[in-house]
Amino acid sequence: MEQLVSQNKQPVTYLRLSVTDKCQLRCFYCAPHSKFIWQPHEKIMRYEEMLRIINIMSNIGVEKIRITGGEPLLKKDIARFMGNVADIPGIKDVSLTTNGLLLGKHLQDLMDAGIKRINVSLDTLNPAIFKSITGVDAFQVVWDNIVKSMEMGFHPVKLNVVAMKDINDNEIIDFATLTMNMPLNIRFIEFMPIGPAAHLMAKHFLAVDEIIDKIKTELGPIVPIKKEFNKHQGPATLYRLENSVGELGFISAMSHHFCETCNRIRLTCDGKLRPCLLNDIEFDLLSPIRMGAGDNDLEAIIRKTALLKSRPATGNMTCIKKCMRPMISIGG
Ligand code: 5AD
Ligand code: SF4
Repeated sequence: MEQLVSQNKQPVTYLRLSVTDKCQLRCFYCAPHSKFIWQPHEKIMRYEEMLRIINIMSNIGVEKIRITGGEPLLKKDIARFMGNVADIPGIKDVSLTTNGLLLGKHLQDLMDAGIKRINVSLDTLNPAIFKSITGVDAFQVVWDNIVKSMEMGFHPVKLNVVAMKDINDNEIIDFATLTMNMPLNIRFIEFMPIGPAAHLMAKHFLAVDEIIDKIKTELGPIVPIKKEFNKHQGPATLYRLENSVGELGFISAMSHHFCETCNRIRLTCDGKLRPCLLNDIEFDLLSPIRMGAGDNDLEAIIRKTALLKSRPATGNMTCIKKCMRPMISIGG
């Protein structure tokens, strides 16, 4: 097997797969249009088509799959599908990113399918602010489902918090404090200029360094978590507060980019493969599949896409061309 690699020979081992562009929420930074138009059903990959692509990828060294959306739990039989993905030889890790709304109903099926790792997107602990960010009054449902996931033994349960000036910057300490008593991994994510809400970055961007300073000032020292425990953690830098049960993660996509070590590739729900989140290059895999392409042809498209992952010139963001697609159709 010849490992799938990027332009600078970095192994590409991690696929983020968006299974749907539907979502019940309308987070203003992700799906700001109330009239967001779903892709028609026939343009969305079927599970067999996704499994075929993952099979080909697993033959060339992709071992970790994250299922994203939109909201993946809106898809029928998603836990069973995830179980099927986990059964593909070579796939070592299957995880889920969800908005948490339907999580409670799916936890048992997910556990039965062997899924352990769950990321829930939650930007606030305040129900009114939750409603103003997402358009839906559902904080308590999401929170209860997070607690239930921990109680059932899912591990790690991570919370993705997009840090935003004037929206949730006054909750950073509350989020960080949660890790003292709960086995949660709280990940603060910098606002990225994606899709129709890209221009809001100027107003709401909050750098990870500022977040870290705030936590240190108010809660005391934070201890880095050693690399060997950290090797599958992707772009987050991990820390813990002294004597805490949970962990803190910081994803500084904008202020310190991590393209050099990026090992991931993305497949959108309409079957387009993207070398990078923040670049609109994408290659169609679904049309060739439906026109009868063989595995070799598909593998060639996958390799060509991975080779477009390139290291940016140091110190600037030349890798970021633009990202016009809203996040809801790429998957975070
Ligand atoms: N910047 C940073 N994170 C984002 N997400 C969605 N849009 C953005 C953005 N513009 C996050 C969501 C979710 C994950 C899938 O991606 O909050 O946690
Ligand atoms: Fe839905 Fe997640 Fe986008 Fe919010 S960020 S609208 S929960 S897909």
